[in-house]
Amino acid sequence: MEEIANIIQQKVMIHTAGLDLQCKICSNCGTPIEHVITFNGVPRKVATNCKCRAEAYKKKLADEANQERLRKIEKLKVCSLMDEGFRKCTFENWEHTKESEWLYNIGLKYCENWKQAKEKNQGMLLHGVPGTGKSYLSFCIANYLIDQFVPVIATSSINIINKIYEGYGRNGELGELEIINLIQEASLLILDDLGAEHSGRSGKEKQIIYSILDARIRAKKPMIITTNLNVQQLKEKLTGSDGVARSFDRIVEACQPLEVIGTSRRIKKAADNQRCFKQLIS
Ligand SMILES: Nc1ncnc2c1ncn2[C@@H]1O[C@H](COP(=O)(O)OP(=O)(O)O)[C@@H](O)[C@H]1O
Ligand SMILES: [Mg+2]
Ligand SMILES: [Zn+2]
Repeated sequence: MEEIANIIQQKVMIHTAGLDLQCKICSNCGTPIEHVITFNGVPRKVATNCKCRAEAYKKKLADEANQERLRKIEKLKVCSLMDEGFRKCTFENWEHTKESEWLYNIGLKYCENWKQAKEKNQGMLLHGVPGTGKSYLSFCIANYLIDQFVPVIATSSINIINKIYEGYGRNGELGELEIINLIQEASLLILDDLGAEHSGRSGKEKQIIYSILDARIRAKKPMIITTNLNVQQLKEKLTGSDGVARSFDRIVEACQPLEVIGTSRRIKKAADNQRCFKQLIS
């Protein structure tokens, strides 16, 4: 036994002696592209990544992961039913004014504490006169959370109703169910401009909005709602023909009412434009 072991040992030594263990170096970064490993007591040279190749590989993986991330975000944005124009509403693009700072802070805090808001089913009802940035803020929240892969539906009640009516022609009731399911599945529903939908069509629109709100509340899933109506007007708008304010009651159950006050950014812009024009022609 000992004799056999000696022979093997000798062979290993002979083999090793004949091997050039000098490893090749990358001409670009100067680190080895080979290294020596010992297998069954025999040293061998194997290929390895030099520093520049390892870095390039790492970068390729990171690029691929980033592209995958962007693809996912794009998909979420498409699924969010968000109009193209609202994609530019971000906290980064926020035009800061003294008046709107509190709104900015509330929005950012809500996003930063999203997990808690979700767990505790905390939403907001942003109401106030037009042009004060309620829609802008709600889409900032949508874009922030979508960038964190949170499935958000962010759209107006008019858009939901139009989408459902579009579906009627083609798929009948299924279109409505599919849209309502999609809305229910989202972690956050941002319902912009509630109360702006027309109140015709034999109360059908109220019914649709009611079933959306109802589904969200029963699933204990948060909503951010914006409206240009005041709380009383919204209540009247959402009161059924039987005189019961079901949808309204459900909203205040789940969404913290916040009045957004301030000067209309639209009116301010128009005034700035007018001033600019006057200067132009004076
Ligand atoms: N924080 C903001 N930064 C930049 N533009 C804003 C901001 N808030 C509102 N705007 C712009 O002002 C206008 C009115 O805002 P909007 O969110 O539509 O008001 P509301 O929903 O309260 O009627 C829009 O053109 C919007 O893009
Ligand atoms: Mg609005
Ligand atoms: Zn190299």
